[in-house]
Amino acid sequence: PVEFSLRPKYLDDYIGQTRVKDNLKVYIEAARMRGDSLDHVLLYGPPGLGKTTLSHIIANEMGVQVRATSGPAIERPGDLAAILTNLEQGDLLFIDEIHRLNRSVEEVLYPAMEDFALDIVIGKGPSARSVRLDLPPFTLVGATTRAGSLSSPLRDRFGVVSRLEYYTQEQLTLIVMRAADLMRVAIREDGAEEIACRARGTPRVANRLLKRVRDFVQVKAEGVITAETARDALDRIQVDKLGLDEVDHKLLRSIMEHFRGGPVGLETIAATIGEEAHTVEDVYEPYLMQTGLLQRTPRGRMVTPRCYQHFGVEMPK
Ligand code: ADE
Repeated sequence: PVEFSLRPKYLDDYIGQTRVKDNLKVYIEAARMRGDSLDHVLLYGPPGLGKTTLSHIIANEMGVQVRATSGPAIERPGDLAAILTNLEQGDLLFIDEIHRLNRSVEEVLYPAMEDFALDIVIGKGPSARSVRLDLPPFTLVGATTRAGSLSSPLRDRFGVVSRLEYYTQEQLTLIVMRAADLMRVAIREDGAEEIACRARGTPRVANRLLKRVRDFVQVKAEGVITAETARDALDRIQVDKLGLDEVDHKLLRSIMEHFRGGPVGLETIAATIGEEAHTVEDVYEPYLMQTGLLQRTPRGRMVTPRCYQHFGVEMPK
């Protein structure tokens, strides 16, 4: 798909996350100099900031293959054993949503990460015995939106733990300009800025908005993305000045209208807007907190004065 070709392939083409990138460069160069596989890497942070992209970049920089899977896809220990025994020397195993691995699967992962070994139990009951199989050295790259839900034995087995941050407007502007270039769409810098400031600090959102703006501009505006044509298209698809979409609006409005601004519990908000609590927590809240519209307090979620301001709603006394 197009999406994939927009992804940068090497660290030098990857915009933002400077500290993570600079450190990874050192670890990769050092491992390559020694002829070792790279130590296991845990990437965490809100969705859409480039965890999958980075894992492929690490593989490209190391000159190895990627095997990609996800926590929920590995149901039983045998599923993971099958993946591990098919790895080749140096391969990068990417496990997305690694916090969703179940405990029995996690236990297979410990010796695999630590000793490149797979312990297999043969037989049952008193005659059962354990056989250890050697695995080729490999690099596990785990991705999660919530490092806090990883068990500590698992988290402790990652040599590198990196948190991805929301991107700045300037970085997102560069990302949009780069993507527009790859898509061969004419864009002015002010057009890219307009998309960037509504992209919630997230390249995935920026690229999605860019594609929609491109459609409008192609049909209605002679094909050039400018501040004006971008603003017009973004207003049409109901992405507001802060990049908030319908779900964000529903969430914030429900707190203002039904709970007098809060505090209100996560489960209650989730039920009110018909989303799952962990989706609200992992996908919607981080950006709303980052923009200062929502606060987490010990008694629940509260909207801020800035939120009332953004919606032009008067604050209750
Ligand atoms: N496309 C998506 N994320 C990107 C990034 N961080 N740098 C460059 N292009 C991107």
